[in-house]
Amino acid sequence: MATTRRQFLAVLGSLAGAPAVEGALQALGLQSAHPPPPFTPVPTENARGRKVLVLGGGLAGMASAYELLKLGYDVTVLEAQDRPGGRCFSVRRGTRVTDVDGETQVCEFDAGQYYNCGPARIPGHAVTLDYCRELGVPVEVMVNRNPAAYVVTTKGPLAGRRLRQKEVEGDQDGYIAELLSKAVSAKKLDTELDETDRANLLDYLRSLGWLEKDRHYRGNFHTRGFASQPGAADEIGEVGAILSRTGVFGHDLGFRFFYAFDVNQAPAMMQVVGGTDGIAHAFARKLGKRLHLSSPVREIAQDGAGVRVRYGASDNLREARAEFAVCALPFTTLRNVTSDFPTEVKAAIAGVYYEAAGKIGLQFGRRFWEEDDRIYGGMSWTDQTITQIMYPSAGLLAPKGVLVGYYAYQKEAAALQAMRHAKRLETALTEGELLHPGYRKHLQSAFSVAWGKMPWLLGSWAEWGEDDAPRPAGYALLCRPMGRVHFAGDALSWNPGWMHGALASARHTVLAIHARASAERVPAQAH
Ligand code: ALA
Repeated sequence: MATTRRQFLAVLGSLAGAPAVEGALQALGLQSAHPPPPFTPVPTENARGRKVLVLGGGLAGMASAYELLKLGYDVTVLEAQDRPGGRCFSVRRGTRVTDVDGETQVCEFDAGQYYNCGPARIPGHAVTLDYCRELGVPVEVMVNRNPAAYVVTTKGPLAGRRLRQKEVEGDQDGYIAELLSKAVSAKKLDTELDETDRANLLDYLRSLGWLEKDRHYRGNFHTRGFASQPGAADEIGEVGAILSRTGVFGHDLGFRFFYAFDVNQAPAMMQVVGGTDGIAHAFARKLGKRLHLSSPVREIAQDGAGVRVRYGASDNLREARAEFAVCALPFTTLRNVTSDFPTEVKAAIAGVYYEAAGKIGLQFGRRFWEEDDRIYGGMSWTDQTITQIMYPSAGLLAPKGVLVGYYAYQKEAAALQAMRHAKRLETALTEGELLHPGYRKHLQSAFSVAWGKMPWLLGSWAEWGEDDAPRPAGYALLCRPMGRVHFAGDALSWNPGWMHGALASARHTVLAIHARASAERVPAQAH
């Protein structure tokens, strides 16, 4: 099969820095962003006033309830915790969490300091922003990628060197530009590229690597920045020595830079002013008394009249009935709820694998990353357990601040999750020393969250396998209603681990229930 331009650029993507690919995609007109699909259900006489129980007051549950309410349904939401939002959660002074091991942390950050232990960044294409607009939740720019931030690898020729991402990426781009333009000029890619593409690509590569006339990359301030800044008069500034080709391609951190160009990522994204949980609280305000907190669902059953749910403290169960239910509990929790779902549905629920992500928030008395390192937002990356340090995009230049001392997923998160808080903190500080030597002396307070140990959540996000691989049969089963129970949640979207995944699933569920309720000529009786 002939290599398409897109496949060719995908290969280039695996070799070059992401900016190279992004730029090349744009040069060839292959990159675009689309708004979310339209969502315009209209109220119907038949649906008005019909009862829906929503199980779970996370984003999928609350958005479902909010949309159903707008369509005239009689909605009740049952949430296990004493706060709305589920994983849409921010940590600030007074936040108290007792994990499933019984360890309690109480946040002692200064008033006004916070971090988002769950979702933090919102892409421009996400429906999340439409809800922020509609609900009056203010957003601001979140710096997701900062070439001034560091990268430290513990392996390969660059091991232990604290490098600015710009140096590494600049040299990567330079080497790639040099090698590729030599190959193109030597007509080695003529089967892949026609004459126009060849000319466009050569132009693009020359500017990407700021190549010299002989197509060599020798390092320059355009690509890699200054090692000492230029000033006035004879202070011309120094460009550091370029890193070896083996060094810049010989570490395993490349994908982390590309990350800011992944499908849901961008160098500049959005965040909620004051903490992501502003979205959860805005939904909760819209739902008012219809949202019942501290009301864990214990049992789900169905009969001819609809859905019956038992909820509350196990020694004081209450019962609610409705014609329909939106079940927006994480599958990790739904597994522990008694139900009359058929065996294959129970097996599908039990089979959903959840990742174990976690973060630690560290309040420092001084923003040394801004003052000393000149890092304003973005992330530093490392191949250690802590994976990355995230710098706050808000409160720039303030005297103190909270940074995320680690944000880990997969095996690194599992390792941190297995530790108690004190050891997680020690790991964050010890490994963080490679990125910010001496930083523990500024530490004032810390709070860690391991999603696999968070009560009622027990995981971060569903992992269905490779992003574009077909999903297992259980996925399709759970995307369909089980009788009058419609499942919802980010796990049932193509963006698990994203708020817009949860919101898309909520909209899908609302449309399905609304179609049924509008079409059913005689509403079933439910009390
Ligand atoms: N949505 C998660 C993140 O941005 C996966 O890291």
